[in-house]
Formats: sequence, C-alpha cells, structure tokens
Amino acid sequence: MEGGYQRIEHLGEGTYAMVFKGRSPKGEIVALKEIQLDPEEGAPSTAIREISLMKELDHENVLKLLDVVHTETKLMLVFEYMDKDLKRYMDSVGNRGALPPQTIKVLMYQMLKGIKYCHDMRVLHRDLKPQNLLINSRNQLKLGDFGLARAVGIPVNTFSNEVVTLWYRAPDVLLGSRNYDSAIDIWSAGCIMAEMYTGRPLFAGSCNDDQLLKIFRVMGTPTEATWPGVSSMANWKSNFPPYPPTRLEQHLPQMEPLAIDLLKNLLVYEPSGRWDAGRCLSHPYFRDLWQPAPQHALQLPVQHPDQHQQQMQLQQLLLQQQQQQQQQQQQHQQLSHHQQQQHQQQLQLQQLLFQQHQQQQLNHHQQHQQQQQLHHHQQQQQHPAWHRPT
Ligand SMILES: Nc1ncnc2c1ncn2[C@@H]1O[C@H](COP(=O)(O)OP(=O)(O)O)[C@@H](O)[C@H]1O
Ligand SMILES: [Mg+2]
Repeated sequence: MEGGYQRIEHLGEGTYAMVFKGRSPKGEIVALKEIQLDPEEGAPSTAIREISLMKELDHENVLKLLDVVHTETKLMLVFEYMDKDLKRYMDSVGNRGALPPQTIKVLMYQMLKGIKYCHDMRVLHRDLKPQNLLINSRNQLKLGDFGLARAVGIPVNTFSNEVVTLWYRAPDVLLGSRNYDSAIDIWSAGCIMAEMYTGRPLFAGSCNDDQLLKIFRVMGTPTEATWPGVSSMANWKSNFPPYPPTRLEQHLPQMEPLAIDLLKNLLVYEPSGRWDAGRCLSHPYFRDLWQPAPQHALQLPVQHPDQHQQQMQLQQLLLQQQQQQQQQQQQHQQLSHHQQQQHQQQLQLQQLLFQQHQQQQLNHHQQHQQQQQLHHHQQQQQHPAWHRPT
C-alpha cells in the first residue's frame, strides 16, 4: 500500500475521511486517515488546513500526526493509534454511557490540558465532541480531528458559523456571532463533561433554533440583563419563549458540588465570562485527581500488559497506604495506652500528694494539740486556781 503502510481494519468514518488501523513500514500500529481526492481539484482545503496545523502541534493530549502520504487519488494522514473515541469508550465501559466520577475527572483534566495547549498555540479546535476525542489503552485522552480548526488571529471575520457540531455548539455561534474565540471550545468542553456524567448529550437539538431552545430551557432565555447585546445578534428572535433559568444541579444530580461549580464556569452565556482552560485546570474539582479511591479505580475496556502493570502498581500503592494506615492506628493505640498509663500514674501521684497533705495536716493538728496541752500544763503550774472546774 501507499508509502509502505498496511491497512489492518476499518476504525471509523467522519465527515470526509475513512480511518483505518494500520501498520507502518517499521511495524508500528498506526491510524490511517484516508481522504479521497477529487482528481481535478486535488487536496481539499480542510485537509490542507488540518495538516499544516497538526504538524506544528506537539503535546501529550493532542493526537500526533506522524506522516503524510500524498498520491494522485488520495491523501493519507498517519496518526498515532488510539483505542477508541470517547463516544465509543462511554458506550463500552460506561453504565448506559455514564462514566465513574474519578474517570471523568482524569479525562476532563487531560481534555482541558489539550485545549489549553492549543489555545496557547493560538489554535481553536471548533469541533470538540466525544467522537473527536481519542482514548488509548493507558487512559490517555487526546484531541483529534482538527479538520475544521484554524489558527486564531488571522482572518477572524471570515469564520463560517457552521463549524461546531450542533449539540456542542456555543450559544454565541448559534445566535450568529462570527467573532468567536477560544471560548467556543470551552462551551463544548462543558457539554462533554455533563454528557460523561449522564451518558446522554446535555443539549440535543435538531436544528439551530431547536438547539438554542434546548439551551434556554435549562439555562433560561438570555436577556439584555443577563447577556448584554444578545438582542442585537443576527439570529436573535424577539419571540423566543422567555424560559426562566433553572438550577444545573436539578438536571445533573449525579454531579458532585465541585464538578457542578466547574461546569457553571464553562457553560456561561457570554463568551468572555467563560473560564479559560488554564483557569479550569486550577479549579478545586481537580484537587484529588491523583488519589483515586478503590471504588473509583479507572475502568478500562481491554487488558493490555502495560495496563495490567498500572493496575498492579495502583494496587500496590493502595496496599502500602492501607499498611501505613494500620501502622498509624497501632501507633495511635500504643500512644493511647501510654497516655492511659500516664494518666494512672498521675492519679497515683495525686493520691500520694493527697495522703501526704492529710498526713501533714494531721501532724500539724497533733503538734498544735501537743502545744496546747503543753501550754495548758504550763498555765496550770503557774496559776492552778484559774483552771479549776467550777
Ligand atoms: N488515531 C486514531 N486512532 C483510532 N481511531 C481513530 C483515530 N482517529 C480517528 N479515529 C476514529 O475515526 C473516526 C473519524 O475520525 P476523524 O478524525 O474524526 O474524522 P473526520 O474528520 O472525518 O470526522 C473517529 O471518530 C474515531 O472513531
Ligand atoms: Mg470527526
């Protein structure tokens, strides 16, 4: 096959490409993204864009483009191989699509790290959705499919507003804004986060207006007070039903308070009000990221040797932690035993002191009596008549 790459099996299909699992001439397992070319037009502009962008990106949470093979009829992008996209991952390991909270946290952290890197490189993804997030056997998440992404900054006002898949599309884009920025990826990240908790898309609209209404029904229809300038946006309609805002936690009872708090900073109507990826990464939601409790242990679809090793390491770590806790408990018990002993000693000491005190008082009393007797005796001797009973 082209460039010495061999197809192994069909992996998936997206908007304009077929993706295969393949083998490189060196024997490495790779993903081959094949784009059929129009013999007259050559490479589609989307592919050219993807290539020039992807080649510059180098981050652990961004899918690595390894090679590009160009023939007359085909353009083949060679990517590192990943086990599945997030959608399939949720379907295969989730509980009706819903993932365990600690897994979501690990995946969210990686997604936001990937987004931060892209945004720092002045690249918008613009099509973040579970199908475009890839996961490998080590539970690493990488952003993929930059087919529609474009470097920020150059021709801002020529962005088309048909870029983000409907369900993950930000309200400013739906309302016709063309000056959108990195905040559109943050909205998508919020929608993906909620979906990982429930297994269902948060806002599953069927067309542009339906998508807006699905959002309004949960977040309330925006007003000039809640989103200044909203009523002058291109797709704004004065007859949008005025839904009151509801509480996100009502719709997402599975989410813990810190997760809800982060989500509320992603799903903000005004793009400038949405947190940037860097700020999201320092949210307290991620504080316990590296302390997975046993019941939250990552659920992995297939057992690979390195996975097995990771699990063993995790188990060892947990065992060590348990042992440490036991030791601490023992120490605590010993300490309390020691404390009891001390307490008893103190009691004994107090008793002793009390006895001494009593003895002293007794002695004192006896001395006093003796003195009195002596005194009496002396007086009797001096004035015998005075003390004679009458
Ligand atoms: N590197 C990869 N490893 C494994 N599967 C992949 C890889 N890249 C893509 N896929 C699968 O192929 C699908 C389509 O790929 P994608 O790059 O999103 O193409 P499109 O631009 O046509 O949407 C993905 O949703 C995913 O299921
Ligand atoms: Mg895709």
